[in-house]
Amino acid sequence: MPGHKISPRQAATLDGFWRGLFLPWKGALALARPGQDEDWADLGCGPGFFTAPLARQARTVHALDLNPDMAAMAAAKAQRLGLGNVRAQACGEVALPLPDAAVHGVLMVFVAHEFRQPAESLAEVARVLRPGGRALVVEFGGGALSFGPPAHHRITPDQLLAWAEPAGLAPGELRRWTRRLLGLPYLKLWAQVLLKP
Ligand SMILES: C[S@@+](CC[C@H](N)C(=O)[O-])C[C@H]1O[C@@H](n2cnc3c(N)ncnc32)[C@H](O)[C@@H]1O
Repeated sequence: MPGHKISPRQAATLDGFWRGLFLPWKGALALARPGQDEDWADLGCGPGFFTAPLARQARTVHALDLNPDMAAMAAAKAQRLGLGNVRAQACGEVALPLPDAAVHGVLMVFVAHEFRQPAESLAEVARVLRPGGRALVVEFGGGALSFGPPAHHRITPDQLLAWAEPAGLAPGELRRWTRRLLGLPYLKLWAQVLLKP
């Protein structure tokens, strides 16, 4: 059952050196295609692992997290890195502290499987996106050998689309990655672009 929340005690892992080495974070961000003249939200930003590279490519990044400790860590990281275009703050389980049509893009990396009301959260994402905007959802794929949350917490692209399409978000590109060590898959990811007409 999705909806399980990661603890802020795991923040160091979320922003760790090994993650930078093994996650295809550059490829994921390339799918999002943030532009220098665009405002983005990093929803479920955690300690800011994706916020920082996103902020180097976009005009403004709203780093939002349900957990105020995570939002504070993302803010501190942005300050440490001199990224003055990051505005970090806590958000609600569903409600986002942004006006309608506020952003060109919303990044959601490893957060959709933590949503307790996924259909409502995606409707809220659709509300804050400008027409023509896009969202990128990145999640762990299946497979017992793959890093990530327990199998019963994971979601599939089909599940995501069943929540997103009634919210008015249309499917865009879907990409999958598998990382192997000695032939064994240790990391399976998928990324789904969602388009706001
Ligand atoms: C697994 S972490 C991923 C953090 C970050 N995106 C990354 O990949 O480094 C998931 C984050 O989403 C946050 N979160 C969970 N449910 C949320 C919700 N409904 N709205 C906003 N943030 C949420 C958690 O507090 C946590 O910081």
